Amino acid sequence: MDNIEFSITGDGTTGLYNSAVGDVYHSVFGAKTEALEKFIRPLFLRKNFSERKQIRVLDICYGIGYNTKALLSEIINLNIDLKVSIEILETDKMLVLLSPFIKDGFNLPVVSNVLLKNLKNLYEPEFMNVILSEQNYKFFSPLIRPVLKKYQNTCYGNNHSNYISGFLHNIYYQNISNSNKIHSKYAKDAYFKITPYIDDARKTVGALSPCYDIIFLDAFTPKKLPTLWTVDFFKRLYYLMSSCGILLTYSNSAAVRHAFCDAGFYTGKLYDRHRRHCGTVASKNQDLIQTPLGEFDLGLMQTGAGVYYKDVNLDADASEIIADWECRKKMQGLQSTSSYLKQYKNKREATCMTL
Ligand SMILES: C[S@@+](CC[C@H](N)C(=O)[O-])C[C@H]1O[C@@H](n2cnc3c(N)ncnc32)[C@H](O)[C@@H]1O
Repeated sequence: MDNIEFSITGDGTTGLYNSAVGDVYHSVFGAKTEALEKFIRPLFLRKNFSERKQIRVLDICYGIGYNTKALLSEIINLNIDLKVSIEILETDKMLVLLSPFIKDGFNLPVVSNVLLKNLKNLYEPEFMNVILSEQNYKFFSPLIRPVLKKYQNTCYGNNHSNYISGFLHNIYYQNISNSNKIHSKYAKDAYFKITPYIDDARKTVGALSPCYDIIFLDAFTPKKLPTLWTVDFFKRLYYLMSSCGILLTYSNSAAVRHAFCDAGFYTGKLYDRHRRHCGTVASKNQDLIQTPLGEFDLGLMQTGAGVYYKDVNLDADASEIIADWECRKKMQGLQSTSSYLKQYKNKREATCMTL
């Protein structure tokens, strides 16, 4: 947990900040709210997925799992009869291990228990130090706090692995008795399956096979960490996506959108319920793009702001990717973004005057 700080975000749920990257993991306005607005609402689950029997999902940059948990919670809340298999891609194993216990506001132990069941073989001693630290107590789910309190006052004993499995067992059964009976259908193994891949997502995607119906891309912001925003990474995601699949990301960047288009995707904009820009959608199926990129966005992609990152072998360092991008940007001699914006504004004003 070096460089990672917990916080309580605007909607009362736990968020994280990484001081080494200089970036937040979640919106300060609300970690849960962000997952629902940017990654779940645009799926139109009932309309697009309720006729399906099963789907495969790729959660890239799983972190503490808001997007996966929001998806499963929404399926349960809507009572959709859908079997879901989720592959989670993340470099930081500790975050994955903490994910079932986080104060995330979903309050559906059945989801935490599915995670716990599928992740249990990864648990290791270091995890106990984080979860039992008094200062972290408020960042974990109220549902498991009684168990945490009990364990905070006991010592590890001689056998760490027995201690951890006892702890997980207690949490699991406490939650099962509260919730799995109510949501017994979804608690069955056949319903939700989670497979973790603790590695660089660029490496993992090379080993995965098609087809995914939903892809969440929730990497750190492109300028801070460009590795998962390159046209070459997107081409791999294009290969992995099913013909009626949908990819969602929070980025509104012209370069990211340009890269999606050049990777072969139909690309569109996302708005939240207040009609504010909240991200980008990409698909192989044009019908799944509610708001395609307009004349302004397409023009912006041809300016300096639209130059995207490249990483042909999917293994370059962030600094190499940025150096290559700066070099290409200089060489291309494109129109500056500020002059494009001015020109576009003038053109609009002229059009309004003639109407
Ligand atoms: C913005 S946070 C994602 C937040 C997350 N979706 C959640 O609900 O907590 C970005 C995440 O990407 C992970 N990450 C960074 N580089 C990665 C890489 N190359 N492959 C996989 N995960 C990566 C970080 O460890 C971090 O957890």
